[in-house]
Order: sequence, then structure tokens, then C-alpha cells
Amino acid sequence: MAIHLVTGGCGFVGRNMVNRLYRDTSARILFIDDLSVGTHPDTWIGQPLNFEHKELRIYGPDERLLFLHTDLRDVLRELNKDSQYFQKRYGLNVALFDDIFHFAAIVGGRSKIDGDPMLVAQDLSIDAEMFLYVCRNKPRRFLYPSSSAAYPIDLQTESHALQLKESDIDFKKMGEPDMTYGWSKLTGEYLAKIAAGFYGVHVTCIRPFSGYGEDQDLSYPVPAIAARAARKENPFEVWGTGKQGRDFVHIDDVLDLTLLAMDKISDGRAINIGMGRLTSFLELIQVFTGFAGYKPTIKPLLDKPVGVHSRYCDMTWVEENLGWKAKISIEEGMRRVYEAALKRI
Ligand SMILES: NC(=O)c1ccc[n+]([C@@H]2O[C@H](COP(=O)([O-])OP(=O)(O)OC[C@H]3O[C@@H](n4cnc5c(N)ncnc54)[C@H](O)[C@@H]3O)[C@@H](O)[C@H]2O)c1
Repeated sequence: MAIHLVTGGCGFVGRNMVNRLYRDTSARILFIDDLSVGTHPDTWIGQPLNFEHKELRIYGPDERLLFLHTDLRDVLRELNKDSQYFQKRYGLNVALFDDIFHFAAIVGGRSKIDGDPMLVAQDLSIDAEMFLYVCRNKPRRFLYPSSSAAYPIDLQTESHALQLKESDIDFKKMGEPDMTYGWSKLTGEYLAKIAAGFYGVHVTCIRPFSGYGEDQDLSYPVPAIAARAARKENPFEVWGTGKQGRDFVHIDDVLDLTLLAMDKISDGRAINIGMGRLTSFLELIQVFTGFAGYKPTIKPLLDKPVGVHSRYCDMTWVEENLGWKAKISIEEGMRRVYEAALKRI
């Protein structure tokens, strides 16, 4: 039976991917998370706990869901020394992985990216251990999630905002990415190229823009704004002027394109994942307060961090080469988030 690895499997993207793989494949899924940010699987896995041993928990009657509660770097360091580590420590017969989805990272919203850049820089060590493991052990396929934060910030200003194309990142002619988060993602893309070109690993890179979904943490703007609209907040606070914009894309579309890209791309090339549409935070507030049926006074919080002014993508390469377009419109996706927010309050 195939076995996939999902690192950061209790985070927003990771837990959606774990559920998707469980639903759509017959493979076993090992997911690793230190729960520094992630949510314990007991709350979202929807399957009974079957077995527990040390840091390992196995869920489901078919025992296909295996959760390791630990720092990924510790596991990778052990595996990089001894390929029999899983067998020796947990009695697990896992030699090589089929697909690896590497979602473990220190991410966070604007307050973490701007407020604790050296914590976020730990992503460099997480990725370095992961790439070493991948190059030594060659899984069937490896997914590296970069980010739209890797793009040069001077292409995202109020007076000069471009619809970002994949080719706007060029290792021979570099711009400045967004803080330590963007630098670590850019470094990850560089390692992905080396893993593919030098070590022959099947690698796919994605640059998701602002992924959102019903079960996203409330520290992210979409669910936070939805929850405040559901509570009919008035005046309605917005970070900065609210005129800054992002390219919001629903998690189901993010997963669809990720899986398609892994089928088609193996050379470490990075692709955009977005709608190709800029939505400002003021527009988001309008959408959610419209669902809630009221018109609040807007209260800008000008001392809050806002990041770049306008970050959105050009999806032409993906449309032309992979024949893919997002299926979930902003209106439909935000409606789903709003309905989830109503259940939370
Ligand atoms: N969500 C998006 O829209 C988006 C956009 C661009 C890129 N990405 C990338 O996708 C990946 C997942 O993002 P996310 O939104 O799910 O973030 P998230 O913070 O929800 O998930 C990351 C998970 O990694 C875990 N983790 C952190 N350090 C770890 C460690 N040392 N060992 C084990 N687990 C660890 C956290 O506990 C968390 O559950 C990240 O690489 C992120 O940069 C996401």
C-alpha cells in the first residue's frame, strides 16, 4: 500500500490535504506536526483513535491515518542518520514515501512576519533538513510550497503593482522578497531546482497567494473579518486604510491545482496559485457585512502592519499549460466562510 507524508499536517493547508488524500486515495497517510500552531487531529480527523504509542497516534478502522506529534527536524535528522528509524522507534514498516507534501513551516499572518522575523527564519532549517532527506531518499514525488511572498516587493507598491507572473522571479536578476518569510521561500525554490536538476528528484513548487477556507485560523484576515461581520461589529476595524489588496483563493482550488501540478511538473518549476483577481480588505468587509445585512462605519487602524499594497497574480501560464482555472468564485468561497463563522459564534 502506498504511503504519503504530509508535514505540517495539522496546519491549515496540511489538514485539508490529509483529509483530501484520505478521501480520494487508498494510501496510508503519515502526517507530522509539532502542534506549535496546528490543531490536534482529534478535533478534525473524523475517525476514531485506534492505537497510540509514544508520539504516534493511528486513526481510522483501516489504520490509514498516522499522526506523529513531534518536531519534523528531529525526525528528519534521525532518518538522515538511519533509514530504519521508523521501524526501530515505532515499529512502523515505512521505508520510502510515495508523495511528500511539505507544509511544515512557521507562517503566521502579518504580525508574525513583521513582528518576529527571526522566528520565521527557522523555516530555513526546516527546509534544509527536508531537502537533504528528499535528495538522499528520492520519494516518488515531492511538493515544495513556496509563497507569493517570494516575489519582489517593488512590484507590489501602490503606484506600481503588477499582476505577478512566474517569470518575475529570476535567480539571475533578483528583486527583494517579503521579509525573512519571503527569503526562506525563495531559498526553498532554489533548493527545489537543485533537488530536481542535480539529484534527479521529482519536485513541484507552488506559489499560493492568499489561501482561505472555512476552517482557517482566526489570526488570518478572511475568517477574522467573517467572524466580526457575523457578530455585526460596528464600527468595523480594518488594518491600515483597507485599500491594500490580495488575491484570495479557496483552499479546495489550492489543493486541486497542487495535485494537478504534481502530475505535470517534475523539474522544480514554480507556479502561481490564485484567482488572478485583486480584492481589497474594504471590499472583503463589504462582502461579509452584505451577507450579515448591515453597513458599518469603517475604522482604519493605521498603526497595524499591512505588508505590501497589492499582491495578485497572473494565471496565464497555468491556464495555457495546465488547462486549469479556479472553480470557486470569491462570492461563493466567502459565503462558505461566512456560514462557518455563523456556526462559530
Ligand atoms: N495558506 C496559504 O494561503 C499559503 C500561502 C502561501 C504559502 N503557503 C505555504 O503553505 C505551507 C502551509 O501553510 P499553512 O497556511 O497551512 O500554515 P500553518 O501555520 O497553518 O501550518 C503550518 C504547520 O506546520 C507546523 N509546524 C511548524 N513548525 C514545525 C516543525 N518544526 N515540525 C513540525 N511541524 C511544524 C505548525 O504547527 C502548523 O500546523 C507553508 O509552507 C506556507 O508557507 C500557504
